[in-house]
Amino acid sequence: MKGKFITFEGCEGVGKSRQIQLLEEYLIKNGIKYYFTREPGGTEISEQIRAIILDGKNLAMTNECEALLYAAARVQLIKEEIEPRLNRGELVFCDRYVDSSLAYQGKARGLGYDFIKAINSYAFNGFMPDLTIFLNLSPEEAFKRKGGADIADRVELSGIEFHRKVYEGYLELARENPNRFSVIDASGTKEQTSGKIIAALKEKGII
Ligand code: TMP
Repeated sequence: MKGKFITFEGCEGVGKSRQIQLLEEYLIKNGIKYYFTREPGGTEISEQIRAIILDGKNLAMTNECEALLYAAARVQLIKEEIEPRLNRGELVFCDRYVDSSLAYQGKARGLGYDFIKAINSYAFNGFMPDLTIFLNLSPEEAFKRKGGADIADRVELSGIEFHRKVYEGYLELARENPNRFSVIDASGTKEQTSGKIIAALKEKGII
C-alpha cells in the first residue's frame, strides 16, 4: 500500500475531536494533503449503521449484534474509502478503528479479544493502521473535563466501571502493540497535547 493510515483512539471526553480539529488546522497551514474520516461512519451506509448503534432507543441490542454492526460499518468504510485512497498514495486519518471494538466490545462488554479479532479478520483480513495515536487520559479525568455523560448516547450511559474497562483495554492493546501505538499524555492543555501528536507524526515520518 502506497499511502499512510493513521487512527485516533481514546476514552470518551479525552478531547479527541478537538485534537483532530487542531491537527487539521496544522496540516492545512503546512499544505499537507490528507483525508479524514470517522468510525462508525464515513460512508452513507456506515453512517446509517452508526445511527442504529448509537440510538438511545436500542437498549435491547445484544453485545454480539453491536460488535457485528461496528465491523459491518468498518468494512464498508475500508472498501469504499480507505483502501482506494491508500492505493493512490494518500494520507488517511480515521477517528477510531478496530482498537475501539477491542477495547469497548472485546474488553468492556466482555466479548473477548478473540471474538472481535475473528469477526473483523473475516470482514477485512486484518487490515491495520501504520500508526495509532492513543490519547491517554483516565475516564475519571475525561468525564470531569466533559462535564457528565451525553444522555442521548447509549454508549456513554454505560457508567464509569464500563469506561474503566475500556481504558484498561486500551492500555493492554498499547502494551501488546508498542510499534503501532503512540501513547500521548492528554492531561495537559489542548495545545500541549496537539504538540505531542504532531511530534509523534513527525517522528514516525508520517508528516
Ligand atoms: P465517538 O464518540 O468517538 O464518535 O464514537 C462513537 C462511540 O462508539 C464511542 O462511544 C465509542 C464507540 N465505539 C465502539 O464501541 N466500538 C467501535 O468499534 C467504534 C468504532 C466505536
